[in-house]
Amino acid sequence: MTIRNSLFATVAISGLLAVATAGSAHAAGRLNVICSADNEWCEMMETAFELEHDIDVSMVRKSSGEAYAQVRAEAANPKLDVWWAGTGDPHLQAAAEGLTEEYQSPQLGNLNDWAVRQAKNSGNRTVGVYAGALGIGYNNDLLAKKGLPAPKCWEDLKDPAYKGEIQMANPNSSGTSYTALATLVQIFGEEKAFDLLKEMHKNVNQYTKSGSAPIKAAAVGETTIGITFMHDMVAQIKQGANLTVVSPCEGTGYEVGSMSIIKGARNLENAKIWYEFALNPRTQSIAEDAHSYQVPSNKESKIPDGAPRLSELKLIDYDFAKYGDAETRRHLLSRWDDEVKTAPQ
Ligand code: F6P
Repeated sequence: MTIRNSLFATVAISGLLAVATAGSAHAAGRLNVICSADNEWCEMMETAFELEHDIDVSMVRKSSGEAYAQVRAEAANPKLDVWWAGTGDPHLQAAAEGLTEEYQSPQLGNLNDWAVRQAKNSGNRTVGVYAGALGIGYNNDLLAKKGLPAPKCWEDLKDPAYKGEIQMANPNSSGTSYTALATLVQIFGEEKAFDLLKEMHKNVNQYTKSGSAPIKAAAVGETTIGITFMHDMVAQIKQGANLTVVSPCEGTGYEVGSMSIIKGARNLENAKIWYEFALNPRTQSIAEDAHSYQVPSNKESKIPDGAPRLSELKLIDYDFAKYGDAETRRHLLSRWDDEVKTAPQ
């Protein structure tokens, strides 16, 4: 068991312990988790779970696209038991390919509609654990210093004034960036979306592996603009960064961060214990202590202060069935690799 000596662990975990019910399930053993949330939250989940259950967790953190690739690669000999967090699209793709286990939680009735829909769309092979919308974030000091206009819309990002000023993740590894790609295709249609991405490419200084990296870079002045989920921007602002969060004028896409049990999991019973733990409002309510500001899926969970509320944003009607389809993913990513990533800057 790994107990980290940090403030968040002390505060959040003691809260969890205080409310842990006497009748909670205990099972000795092991559990292999792949985590696609931010590291701090992954570690807090591991620590909190181990404190509540006599189960030793072995955890790796990988971005959503990379986690999906690992689950696929290990299909014949699964080493993982649970895939917790990360954008919902690759969880749906894994479900459609039969890589994840059917499981219906007794807590399903307590979840928001968008989380239940994720379960329905996948034949109960995945479920929503949180939601969050995409945005454009910028560093106020850098924008002013460079005399750049404030971006308001996705289309603004092709402005040559932003050359070298924009950072986003690579959609192959990052679920955030795959969501951005799918969002632009849904707003503009595929051809116009790729035209925009090719124009934007001239302004991109780096395609990062992880989805939240661009806004962390903006927070410390390494890039002016970052395309990430808004909750990742809020996390930086709460920690003192001088950033503006923009909800793009054309509308924006969102994720249903999800969780799946791996098909053929060797520790299936323990995987179900994690599953229930992760959907529990007690667990979901401590996310804020790990600087995570998504909207939790359980209606009884505390929504973190400052979490961007989906109901207050101009959201597109994101087609999870289509963009969570493995063929659509392959098609969009190969087009991005061939036409965007390799285009001249
Ligand atoms: O934990 C932060 C977060 O933005 C999640 O909301 C999201 O599911 C995940 O990161 C996506 O990470 P990546 O883009 O690296 O796959």
